[in-house]
Amino acid sequence: MADEQPVSDVSEREQPCVLLVDDNPQNLKVLYETLRDRHYQLLIANDGEKAIQLARRHRPEVILLDIMMPGMDGYEVCDELKQSPETALSAIVFLSALNDVDAKVKGFNTGGADYISKPFQAQEVIARVDTHVRVIQLDRALQARNRQLESEQAGILNAIFEGIYGLDPQGLITFANPAAADIVGTTQDQLVGAAVGDLHFPDSEQGGASEHARRVLCLDGEPVLRRAVTMARPDGSTFQAEYRAAPRFERGALTGSVLVFRDITEELAQDRALEEARQVVETQREQLAHASRLSTMGEMAAGFAHEINQPLTAITNYVSLVSRMRDTGRLDQQALDDVLDKIAAQSHRASEVIRRIRQFVQKPASGCEPVDVTRLLAESREFAEVDARNNAVQIELCVPNHLPMALGDPVQVQQVALNLIRNALEASRLADSREPVQLGAKVEPGAVRVFVRDHGCGLPVDAEDRLFQPFYSTKDEGMGIGLSLCRSLVQAQGGDIGFERLPEGGTEFWFTLPLTEDQ
Ligand SMILES: Nc1ncnc2c1ncn2[C@@H]1O[C@H](COP(=O)(O)OP(=O)(O)OP(=O)(O)O)[C@@H](O)[C@H]1O
Ligand SMILES: [Mg+2]
Repeated sequence: MADEQPVSDVSEREQPCVLLVDDNPQNLKVLYETLRDRHYQLLIANDGEKAIQLARRHRPEVILLDIMMPGMDGYEVCDELKQSPETALSAIVFLSALNDVDAKVKGFNTGGADYISKPFQAQEVIARVDTHVRVIQLDRALQARNRQLESEQAGILNAIFEGIYGLDPQGLITFANPAAADIVGTTQDQLVGAAVGDLHFPDSEQGGASEHARRVLCLDGEPVLRRAVTMARPDGSTFQAEYRAAPRFERGALTGSVLVFRDITEELAQDRALEEARQVVETQREQLAHASRLSTMGEMAAGFAHEINQPLTAITNYVSLVSRMRDTGRLDQQALDDVLDKIAAQSHRASEVIRRIRQFVQKPASGCEPVDVTRLLAESREFAEVDARNNAVQIELCVPNHLPMALGDPVQVQQVALNLIRNALEASRLADSREPVQLGAKVEPGAVRVFVRDHGCGLPVDAEDRLFQPFYSTKDEGMGIGLSLCRSLVQAQGGDIGFERLPEGGTEFWFTLPLTEDQ
C-alpha cells in the first residue's frame, strides 16, 4: 500500500493511482486483490470523508466508488470531488449492488464516468480501470500540453512590442495584448469590450464609423496595411500609427479580424529629419558642384580667352580687308558677300564658345532629363580642346552610332566628363605621352557607360582606397576634389563610377548613366 505523500505534478508520474472506496472491508480486500498486480498505486478508503481527503492529496486517475455508504454516500462524494478543480479530473467508476437504471443515470449525472455492478467480475474491473486510467492519463497529458502552449502563446503575445487586438465583426475588441495597453495608455481590461472605432478613430463622418474603423474589420476578407494614420487615445491625445489588419475565418465564415498596430510618431519625425538633412546635403552638393565649375572655368579662362581671341582677330582682319578693297575700288558685291559670310561664321564660333561657358557656369536646373550622350561628349571634347592643345595631347571620340538616350543632368554629366578628361590630359602630359586620350561611350544592360582612357602616368599604387576621397591629390596645384565630386554627382543621378589600371599602362575612368525608362 502506498505512503501518503502529496503528489505535485500528476501528469508526469509513472505509476497511476487508483483509489478504492467501500465501507465493507471484505469488498475492499477483494478489490485490492483484484488490482494489486496491475502496477497501480492503490489507495483505500472506507468512508466518504477519507476518500475525499485521499483524492485531494493524491489526485488518483481512477476512483472506484461504492454508492451505498453510511454518512456520505457515493453520489455526495462524487459531487464534492467534481466541484473542486484539483479532484474533478479523476475518473469516478461507481460500484454498487444497485442494479437499476435510475441509479446508473444518477451516477452519470453526478459526473461519474462509468458504472460496475456488484458482484463484479475481476476481469471487468481490471479492464475498466485500465481503460479509464489510460483515458485520464491522455487527458492530463493533453491538458498539460495545452497549458504549455497557452503559456507559450501568452509569452509570445506579451513579448511583442506591437499592439495586437482581436476584433469581432462589429468592431468590438475581444482581445488586447499588453503592448496595446501600453501604446494606448490604459489597461488590457479597459480595452476588451470597447469599440475600436469609438476608441481610436472617433473623427467619423456624421453618424457612421470612420473609414479606418471599417477598414480594420476587413469585411471584404482582404488584409490591409496603412501607415501614418492618426489614432486617438482615451485621454484625448493622438499618435501616428502603422496598422495591419487581417481577417479571421472559421469554416469559411468571417469571424472578425486581428489588428496589429504600432506607434510610429517618432519614426515619422526621424524620417522627416532625415529628408531635411538629405535636402541640405543635396543643396550643398549643388553648391559645391557649382563652385567647382566656376573654379574649373577660372583655371581654363586663359585658354578660353585665347579661343575667343582667334575668331575676333579673324573678324578684325576681314573688316580691314573689306576696308582696303573699298578704298581701292575692288569691292564688288560677290567679294562683300564672301567676307560677310566669313565674319558671320567667325562671330558664331566666338559666341558658341561663350554660350558653352555660360551654360557650364550657370546653376543647372538640377534634374534628370533625357540626355544625348553623343552630343554631350562632342561638346565636352570641344570644351577641353584648349586644354588638350596646352598638354599637347589629342582627344579622340569613340562613340558608336545610335547610342540610346540616357538620364541625367546635362551640365553635371558634362562636368564629370570634363573632370575625367582634364585628369587624363594631365596624366598624359606627366608621362610625356603623345597617344590621344580616348573619350567614348557604349551601351550596357540598363545604362550607358562613358569612359575616358589615357596612356598617361598611371595611378599611384595606393590609389584604390583614396582616389574618391575629397582632397586627395598628388598634384602640386591639385585640390583633390575633382573625383570625389564626380562620384557624388554620378551617384546622385543613379549611376556608378570607377576606374581600371590598363595593362598597357595608363588608366581608364568610367561612369554610367541609367537609360531612359522607355528603353
Ligand atoms: N587619369 C589619371 N591618371 C593618373 N592619375 C590620376 C588620373 N585621374 C586622377 N588621378 C589621380 O587621382 C588624384 C585625384 O584626382 P582629382 O581629380 O580628384 O584631383 P586633382 O586632379 O588632383 O585635383 P582637382 O581637384 O583640381 O581635380 C590625382 O591627384 C591623381 O593622383
Ligand atoms: Mg582632377
